[in-house]
Amino acid sequence: MLHIFYSRLRMEEKALYKAAQARGVEPDFRDVGDFVWPDDFENVKPGDVALCRCVSQTQNIALTQLLEGRDVRVINPSATMLLCGDKIATAALLDRAKIPQPEWRVASGEAAVKAAESLGYPVVFKPAVGSWGRLLAKISDREACEAIVEHKERLGPAHSVFFMQKYVEKGGFDLRAVMIGGKTATLMKRASEHWITNTARGATPEPFPMDGKLEDLLHRTALAIGGDFLAVDVFGTPEGWVVNEVNGQPEFHGSVAATGVDVGGLMIDYTLKAVITKAMSTT
Ligand SMILES: Nc1ncnc2c1ncn2[C@@H]1O[C@H](COP(=O)(O)OP(=O)(O)O)[C@@H](O)[C@H]1O
Ligand SMILES: [Mg+2]
Repeated sequence: MLHIFYSRLRMEEKALYKAAQARGVEPDFRDVGDFVWPDDFENVKPGDVALCRCVSQTQNIALTQLLEGRDVRVINPSATMLLCGDKIATAALLDRAKIPQPEWRVASGEAAVKAAESLGYPVVFKPAVGSWGRLLAKISDREACEAIVEHKERLGPAHSVFFMQKYVEKGGFDLRAVMIGGKTATLMKRASEHWITNTARGATPEPFPMDGKLEDLLHRTALAIGGDFLAVDVFGTPEGWVVNEVNGQPEFHGSVAATGVDVGGLMIDYTLKAVITKAMSTT
């Protein structure tokens, strides 16, 4: 059986449901915003395939791990969600795979000021866990850096290790690639007057032409990260393209609006192949 679990019915979840129905599959399509495990999941059986689309990352990872404990193939696997949900873990893995990214540091305590100075201002402080451009801080001098470190330390243990990147002059835009099974499904440009170019923050999505170097970078990134369904943020620099971050449970309404590609349909085609592969491997 194919399950599609969500906590808020966004354009993405509706598109996935419609695409499954259009292919003759009636999925178990359910709001699991308030769930009890295992009581609410009696119909889940080993060998099933699930798309977990809860808005909260914590909830999505918990549900995915529970389903995996019952031998359900979840798209994405929890390992991918955990990796992409943590910007420090992602930076470390990209580093190992020699994938170019903005210069970065991880530091704790007062050493954070030293780390920022070794990068050179401006630097961007990011919560290791976060999305939609929330709680990012672009810091242009030592005084502001000292202040942000002091404030963050008071926010508690989750904010006591600092992830920071050198600010990239990216020409007013970044790129967002949606990747399914290691292949690029859509590529768009997100342009904004603001230095934060998330569409959730009002950036304008437009299509962007693929080039060979970019394609190679995206492919290598997907291979290094693993998983099924990724969104990769890329910046243009004078030295070439660099990967800023990888999302493991992406929204895709902006990519559909910019490119007209039926991402929901491609996702369901990919997922149904996983259902068939799983069925063949268990017979
Ligand atoms: N080092 C940086 N230099 C320039 N712009 C940045 C940098 N880091 C982030 N941004 C801007 O902020 C946006 C959000 O940052 P990102 O790391 O993708 O976090 P989130 O997970 O919140 O999307 C990026 O799409 C980009 O526009
Ligand atoms: Mg991002």
